[in-house]
Amino acid sequence: MKTALSVNLNKIALIRNSREGNYPDVVEHGKVCLAAGADGLTVHPRPDQRHIRPHDVYDLAELLKDNQEAEFNIEGNPFAEKIGDFPGFIQLVLDTKPEQCTLVPDSNDQLTSDHGFDLKKSGESLKPVLDQLKSTGVRVSLFMDPDLEQIELAKKLGADRIELYTGPYAEAFKRKDASFDQLFQRYYAAAEYAAKIGIGLNAGHDLNLENLAHFRKVPALLEVSIGHALTVDAIAMGLDKAVRAYKQLCSA
Ligand code: PXP
Repeated sequence: MKTALSVNLNKIALIRNSREGNYPDVVEHGKVCLAAGADGLTVHPRPDQRHIRPHDVYDLAELLKDNQEAEFNIEGNPFAEKIGDFPGFIQLVLDTKPEQCTLVPDSNDQLTSDHGFDLKKSGESLKPVLDQLKSTGVRVSLFMDPDLEQIELAKKLGADRIELYTGPYAEAFKRKDASFDQLFQRYYAAAEYAAKIGIGLNAGHDLNLENLAHFRKVPALLEVSIGHALTVDAIAMGLDKAVRAYKQLCSA
């Protein structure tokens, strides 16, 4: 089974924001990713606008609007409210209606996403958000750790998919000791369980050209979203070649 590759454009925006002006242009780089075979584009807008800014979300939605082959995935903290010219995370999603919205439990000042939802704690507050997004036709995915009990709660809440947080997998992959096999088994079991209860499976964070092929051994992996390593590889290889290299691993 092929796994869709959604390229996360945050780091292109981060470089742009380090200077005045629109260089590099996020939309143009999005086009290069699509031309190289990416199945979708991902952004993670945050209230501090450190990388993706609200206009990027609107511009990319426009780019992908008539594209039947590529999906738009907006990920982020559903409780990030309007601050200054940041319209609020949910408002951005409602305005642009991406194919998929991945809800992530991160706080406004967090460096990057580093854990999945604890739905025993936040399930109740997430339910109305999830229902609202689903009623507008947006597919909803929840960022989760490989924990079967939590995955069952995600299903009960009505999520269409989960995105497994692969940061710990990537860290353990570097060591490849006995604990790596144990940890990978947890991801494998989580993927099997997701398939069994009928919830779709995505994965992301710290995936790269070394660790992706092994992670794809988990069953029924529908999509990976990859930004940081792909952007670093693009510095050496060029963006087109980097996307093609990841795409090849997703299709093998
Ligand atoms: N998934 C989520 C929820 C994320 O926050 C990120 C980082 O923006 C990614 C996937 C992609 O991670 P990376 O940039 O390490 O590939």
